[in-house]
Amino acid sequence: MSHRILSLPSHLVNQIAAGEVVERPASVAKELIENSLDAGADRVEIDLEQGGVKLLRVRDNGEGIAPEDLALALARHATSKIASLADLESVATLGFRGEALPSIASVSRLDILSRRRGAERAWRIAGEGGEPIPAAHPDGTTVEVRDLFFNTPARRKFLRGEKTELQHVEALVRRIALARLDVGFRLGHNGRVLFQLPPAADDPARVAQRLQELLGAGFVEHALAVDEGAVGLRLHGWVVAPAFSRSQGDMQFFYVNGRVVRDKLVAHALRQAYQDVLHHSRHPAYLLYLEIPPTQVDVNVHPAKHEVRFREGRQVHDFIFRALHRRLAEGAQGTGPHMASDPAQPVWVDPGPGGGRAGAPGPWQGPTAQQTIPLGIREAGQGYAFAVAAQRPFPEPAVPVAGEAETPAAQPLGFALGQLHGVYVLAQAEDGLVIVDMHAAHERIGYERLKRAWDQGQVRRQPLLVPLPVQVSRAEAELAEAQAGLIRDLGLVVDRIGAESLVVREIPAALQGADAEGLLRDLLSDLTVHGTSARVREEVNGILATLACHAAVRANRRLTLEEMNALLRDMERTERADQCNHGRPTWVKLSRQDLDRLFLRGR
Ligand SMILES: Nc1ncnc2c1ncn2[C@@H]1O[C@H](COP(=O)(O)OP(=O)(O)OP(=O)(O)O)[C@@H](O)[C@H]1O
Ligand SMILES: [Mg+2]
Repeated sequence: MSHRILSLPSHLVNQIAAGEVVERPASVAKELIENSLDAGADRVEIDLEQGGVKLLRVRDNGEGIAPEDLALALARHATSKIASLADLESVATLGFRGEALPSIASVSRLDILSRRRGAERAWRIAGEGGEPIPAAHPDGTTVEVRDLFFNTPARRKFLRGEKTELQHVEALVRRIALARLDVGFRLGHNGRVLFQLPPAADDPARVAQRLQELLGAGFVEHALAVDEGAVGLRLHGWVVAPAFSRSQGDMQFFYVNGRVVRDKLVAHALRQAYQDVLHHSRHPAYLLYLEIPPTQVDVNVHPAKHEVRFREGRQVHDFIFRALHRRLAEGAQGTGPHMASDPAQPVWVDPGPGGGRAGAPGPWQGPTAQQTIPLGIREAGQGYAFAVAAQRPFPEPAVPVAGEAETPAAQPLGFALGQLHGVYVLAQAEDGLVIVDMHAAHERIGYERLKRAWDQGQVRRQPLLVPLPVQVSRAEAELAEAQAGLIRDLGLVVDRIGAESLVVREIPAALQGADAEGLLRDLLSDLTVHGTSARVREEVNGILATLACHAAVRANRRLTLEEMNALLRDMERTERADQCNHGRPTWVKLSRQDLDRLFLRGR
């Protein structure tokens, strides 16, 4: 080591910076595409050879770069996007460091071709520097990156095979294409087009098509539109009904001012919002956009800009939580009063008979159209559709049939016809056949009742006609004694009558008819798991869910028609009745049209 301090040559400085910014072809693609978006492009084309290692080219139709600025674009710390600290504190563009191009240029052979919008000609500059020379190019910019890491063998060694690098680029382009529905994207590899997405901003059918292409038909079919605004924040996009939950968190897209970020706060708010309706081992799917004044968020906290910091973190958290919690509570019944004011928010409508190929997106229409979300099995050619739980259960109020006492609209789930296999209730609704999973429905109703009672601080209890002795372990008996107060708050009165015996005297009125012994055992095992600390109260929703589950109608119990109708009415009154506590649907509907189609009627 020399003992003198030297300034590093700029090429080496750039290579060091590239260590943070450029990890693989996908990170190059990210920087170049973000530049195109900052330049106002609405079409971006990405072409790769050999997974982007041999060639990665991004072409856009943005505002272009003036020839006198071309050299600056390649200079470190040169940017057109900010000029002062005040600008840095309210960045509205994706870039702001003036670092990406010089970094990439230092580890590859880079070329920029650009024509300023409306200018007479285009110019080209090579990454090594030199004067720009005239070239042919339409309005916009092309950046070509060849032989990534050719001069930094240590980095090159860390690249994976062509397929893996391609997958990373593909995932990146998909993520950006979901962030910017208004921009068209094309991705090609070794001369083959992998996907081509037209700009979709004002065209609901194209939005549907893009979501379907990038997230699949399942997502589109189960999507609930969200649009909420408060305290200068706006959250919009789609959450998926819990029945379409996934075993992995691979369909979660959250953008802050168009930026892909990972954020613990956001993740926590989302998890909490889904907590009531999703089993904890399942992962929700969503595509959400948070818009927040740029001054309220610091984007300069991570070298690759993967993280942000909210100035009012708590407020952002609570806003996201509340917006989604409410939307999920409404379920598909929610006609989305919060989005009705925004005609830009597309709402899925059933394409109807003959509407497209299997699983194809139908036309999107404005929220004034009848809002239904078609789901489930859609057989090509056969022409039958099976609309499941998320079908909006409230038909347009129909003219009451003479002699009918009540308007059918008040009873969207209809009237019970009978029981099937002791598991399902069949009901005739105004516009079709409703099939209810008794157990799932009952569980949801019990849970919501308990939770409401708990929130109001008064879980009503009901004495058992005959107190019920239950044998337990000594530890459990001690636990029951120590936690008698909490257990009472949860709606049970339990006394210890021996070293290993308890007696249940009262249970929650909402769970009337439940198996008291099972209830007590479940409660004790929950308390054992959660311990005796304050955590128990935090976990109370989980405990209430366990109780409700235990108390729910077991399969094979025969119900009278009155009981079945009572269940249907209860469901209509209950929030989140679309799915049980584990996220399974509680009911499905076969509309009259569906029935007609099954029998090829009325065609
Ligand atoms: N596709 C493009 N169209 C128009 N101008 C561009 C394009 N790409 C780069 N530029 C110009 O070149 C400058 C440098 O780009 P570079 O990506 O290096 O920095 P940045 O985007 O300003 O900041 P960051 O390093 O955070 O990305 C930009 O500020 C912009 O003026
Ligand atoms: Mg940039």
